[in-house]
Amino acid sequence: MSVVLNAVDERGTFVTQRSRDLDGEVCISGAKNSVLKLMAACLLAQGRHVLANVPDISDVSLMCELLEAMGVTVTRADHRLVVDVPAELNTEAPYHVVERMRASIAVLGPLLGRFGAARVALPGGDDFGPRPIDMHLRALECLGATFSTAHGDIWGTARTLTGAEVVLDYPSVGATENVLMAAVQARGRTLIVNPAREPEVGDLVSFLNLMGARIGWVGDRLAVDGVEQLTPASNDNGYWVISDRIEAATLLAAVGVCGGSVYLRHAAAGHMTMLIRKLTEMGMRISVEDAGLRATVARRLTSANVSTLPYPGLATDYKPFLVSLLTTASGVGIVTENIFTGRFRYIDELRRMGADIRIEGHHAVVRGTAHLSGAPVRAHDIRAGAALVVAGLGAEGETEVAGAHHIERGYEDLAGKLAGVGAVISRR
Ligand code: EPU
Repeated sequence: MSVVLNAVDERGTFVTQRSRDLDGEVCISGAKNSVLKLMAACLLAQGRHVLANVPDISDVSLMCELLEAMGVTVTRADHRLVVDVPAELNTEAPYHVVERMRASIAVLGPLLGRFGAARVALPGGDDFGPRPIDMHLRALECLGATFSTAHGDIWGTARTLTGAEVVLDYPSVGATENVLMAAVQARGRTLIVNPAREPEVGDLVSFLNLMGARIGWVGDRLAVDGVEQLTPASNDNGYWVISDRIEAATLLAAVGVCGGSVYLRHAAAGHMTMLIRKLTEMGMRISVEDAGLRATVARRLTSANVSTLPYPGLATDYKPFLVSLLTTASGVGIVTENIFTGRFRYIDELRRMGADIRIEGHHAVVRGTAHLSGAPVRAHDIRAGAALVVAGLGAEGETEVAGAHHIERGYEDLAGKLAGVGAVISRR
């Protein structure tokens, strides 16, 4: 196998101490939630695809494993991936990969679009609530696909896919991406009504168009004119994956908790407008500088209310970091979760660190305290884990965040990047 996979060590921890006045520069990596879909999109065309700015995270390793199980050859070095897709593929996504990474469902659209067949293990729920895929299936059915489920797998078939109007009840990121990837080679025009508009969806649209697809915006709808065949997009420099706005948000929250001034190279201000507005309201100074952002915090932040919404609203993925920020800000902030209703489990861990948080339905009422108190805590998902690390940087004494493997699904060298700007943190 050309990809070297690191065994997941479930005993790994991040250990932090109270850190003050961060200073220096951090380079933001390529976006997890973009690269995983671009890798799935490679399945649409035979040949050699090259992706650049690929983050060194374990979800990318899992997607490599999934593609290799289908017969694709993947080589990974220096933040580049070379994805060699043969003429014929095994069109099955097995449970042992899907259960470890829900984003595996992104192969459903490309497999149906190119081969008219797919067998994908049904993803289960996860730590922040049920994660259904009904919208993906209904949308693909509009194009002519049929589905059955047996033995924990979804079997999809489509003799031919035909363009149609696809109305999404909710702008689901994953459903939008699956329809796009199925529709690019369908007969005629597909119109997606109420699509997701996240920057990662935009990156997929750009990548598919470079592969020969014909996708464009018609007002607030996405129009896809089917083409006969796609070809690999990339030249040898590779397609540059957009930068990870969620990683950038994590670093911004760390500056908010510790104070100081940090330059986030490659952070895309245009993808984070609402977040920047919210952090500015709380007292952070954020300016666009060259190809990145500078964040400066000179005093304790002030609380604000936060409500998660689909893009361009405040992303649900930012919410755990914002809660960590509010635990040490002055005043009371109310955080409302509108996307994943179960995404509050880490609150109990923050309470172990002395945070004053009350949950009422899908609202968290956070009363800031002058400082948290370090404690052993456990990460249950990527973003909650990163939020505990951020909180630990603002806590007196030592915080040990167990479950580092959850965090490493989506963060490249989080400890190294934070330590590089003066935070007291190590990965053990
Ligand atoms: N939903 C349905 N049915 C569906 C699909 C979604 O009811 O068929 C519901 C979900 O349960 C949820 C809402 O719609 O309540 C939003 O789900 P969406 O489909 O937009 O999310 P996703 O595609 O499963 C991606 C990201 C998430 C991010 C969300 C929202 C990837 C791999 N994941 O998930 O990122 O939170 O969009 O922006 O792109 C993360 O990176 O930690 C992460 C969870």
